[in-house]
Amino acid sequence: MFTDRTVDPALKSLWIGRKTSSHTLDQSGVWRFRELLPQIPEEHAITLREGNTPLYELPRCARIAGVDSLQAKHQGMNPTASFKDTGMTFAASSAHQQGFSWVACASTGNTSASMAAYAARGNMRSLVLIPEGKISWGKLSQSLDYGALTCQLRTDFDGCVRILNELVRRKPVYLLNSVNPYRIEGQKTAAIELLEQLGWEPPHHIIVPGGNLGNSSAIGKALLEMRDLKLISRLPKLSIIQAQGANPFYRCVRELGGSRLDPMTAETQATAIRIGNPASWKKALRVLRETGGEVEQVSELEIAEAKAEIGADGVGCEPASAVTLAGLKKLRGAGFVKRNETVVLILTGHLLKDPDFTIKFHRGDLFAGTPHEREAAHARPLQRAPIVLDADLGAVIATLDAAEKAT
Ligand code: F0G
Repeated sequence: MFTDRTVDPALKSLWIGRKTSSHTLDQSGVWRFRELLPQIPEEHAITLREGNTPLYELPRCARIAGVDSLQAKHQGMNPTASFKDTGMTFAASSAHQQGFSWVACASTGNTSASMAAYAARGNMRSLVLIPEGKISWGKLSQSLDYGALTCQLRTDFDGCVRILNELVRRKPVYLLNSVNPYRIEGQKTAAIELLEQLGWEPPHHIIVPGGNLGNSSAIGKALLEMRDLKLISRLPKLSIIQAQGANPFYRCVRELGGSRLDPMTAETQATAIRIGNPASWKKALRVLRETGGEVEQVSELEIAEAKAEIGADGVGCEPASAVTLAGLKKLRGAGFVKRNETVVLILTGHLLKDPDFTIKFHRGDLFAGTPHEREAAHARPLQRAPIVLDADLGAVIATLDAAEKAT
């Protein structure tokens, strides 16, 4: 299935050269690296020109976190606005190659949006199982517009996965959850592209959010493969951050020494990572250990503050992605990350994925009626609620003057 893994010294220049090619596959930031992926014939390739995502400096966040330089690879700049597209282009193409007419996934919203888009592009039908009431409107609206058969089940993500696993035994649908090996292969390219953007000079640290743990497994796999192929000379430490209320992997590593993972009922407003029984925990554990990374957990308030801080750097991301900055602050505080070390955060989803969260945060409503209500006062300096005024020039000028004075 795999291509010949012998290193071609010209690979790096071949890949960079494809950036100016008009060939469809070369214009994808995934298929551009096809020498490191399983072979899928071109006539089955379904691509939306995914990948090719920017690497941004985050100067204000760097100051806040206490590091000299901080960069973010923004996977939310993919066609359906999340990192899922890099794996989905590949796995959907594999479904097409195998002749499936239906594909299916359980999702917290981003996988389903991505799958629905790629299925539509490949003339396949898609079945989405999502937890009722616990995904953002932005993500739900995507799967509707892309034409998926969307079922909101009265359960959580883990309950959706259970039903889906039963379903694939009864019906000829192709499973597109992140346990699908083609998803992992496609998602590897985020790390390959990152290293290319860094001139093949590995950062000291890469920090990712952890939910079902497919992404960390994929990035870790890519790092190990690049090291083995001598495309890079040393491994970055890959650290994984979870929300405190959805922290089964954190507890597995910190409390159980990696011996087992105890599933839990997950609760967090970062709904993308509201996952209590991650499928790929063993793979994630392996990459954590092989790269020497750390696992950390962050509170709801820390997530919300970090999200606003990433926004204030003019970049922005969805809540689940912001755990990376929140986690970096903790890893820096604990001395695991040093001031002069280079750090890259993987931002997994776009700011516009979850506008409800953002608006509630800035209006000061996000934690109303939750156990975090009192500590939430700490976030007030970051909140910028909209100001409703009469349509009156004087009122606008007075507001502008007041803002000027306050800074
Ligand atoms: N960030 C975002 C924005 C996500 O949507 C997800 C997962 C993660 C991080 C965690 O990545 O699961 O590979 O560890 N979303 C999945 C979904 C579960 O269904 O959209 P992971």
